[in-house]
Amino acid sequence: MTDTVPAQRPRRYSDDVLGGPTDTERARLAAMAAVCDPTTIRILDERGVSAGWRCLEVGAGGGSIAAWLAGRVTGADSTDATDAAAEAATAARAGHVVATDVDTRHLEGLAGPHLTVLHHDVTRDPAPPGGPFDLIHARFVLEHLPDREQVLDRLRGWLKPAGVLVVESIVGFPLDSSPHPAFRQAMRSIDEVLAKTIGTDSAWARGFPAPLQRRDLVDVGVSVHLPTTGGAGASAQCWALTLTRLRPHIRELGLADDDTLDDALDCLADPAFFDLSFATAVAWGRAPG
Ligand SMILES: C[S@@+](CC[C@H](N)C(=O)[O-])C[C@H]1O[C@@H](n2cnc3c(N)ncnc32)[C@H](O)[C@@H]1O
Repeated sequence: MTDTVPAQRPRRYSDDVLGGPTDTERARLAAMAAVCDPTTIRILDERGVSAGWRCLEVGAGGGSIAAWLAGRVTGADSTDATDAAAEAATAARAGHVVATDVDTRHLEGLAGPHLTVLHHDVTRDPAPPGGPFDLIHARFVLEHLPDREQVLDRLRGWLKPAGVLVVESIVGFPLDSSPHPAFRQAMRSIDEVLAKTIGTDSAWARGFPAPLQRRDLVDVGVSVHLPTTGGAGASAQCWALTLTRLRPHIRELGLADDDTLDDALDCLADPAFFDLSFATAVAWGRAPG
């Protein structure tokens, strides 16, 4: 008889890498939303999200975009008091948002008649109820999933004819030109540790919008958002919390020493510090029909 080594399941996003203790993860997701929601909302607005749409928010995190969508598709965010508004209100009764995540702790309290919170793994669970969808949106999810191309196939399959897919992902290209050595190394360490532990690919979105074009979407477009990180603002807070969370893994893999990480955290806490970190690439497209 031969001894067999049990096959180890590769680590996933919330296996002690990201995710993590409720309070700090909630603060990290809130800081992420403060930095990114204005751009996301502008792009969703430009895609025509409106009363009556059925939407899927994948990897909803803290739920800020799911909540915004629920207001939009039910007409609750409308200030228009005309007869057209009454017509829109009728359509809005059909509007619904499904917010999914493998960790729904931060979505508790959001659920209501027009917003369903669902514990759901986008890589392997069946299509969420409520589809096919007019809009599917995923921000900072697919780059962390090694099987992102299969996940994109799944999302494409859950769209209605003429349904819109919007995918947002971090991209690492601004990091190498940072003029701050400790910050540069710390941010590179975040990039590398995520690649080595859970298979994150911060270069995937550099090829946008090809993954959407390959899936026969039309009206395809891309936008890149590059917020500054500094002034002890929300982006700096988000990266400081991320760096602190990943520090044991960075240390374990020998990617940066403690002095460097301390210096980087000092930079992020300094109101006078300014730099760039990861950019966000946003790609969208519409199913024919
Ligand atoms: C970086 S956070 C982004 C949260 C939110 N989309 C945002 O941008 O504010 C990634 C989210 O994806 C979720 N996630 C990771 N793997 C997932 C999977 N296989 N299926 C569904 N959600 C997943 C995580 O739990 C986390 O909430």
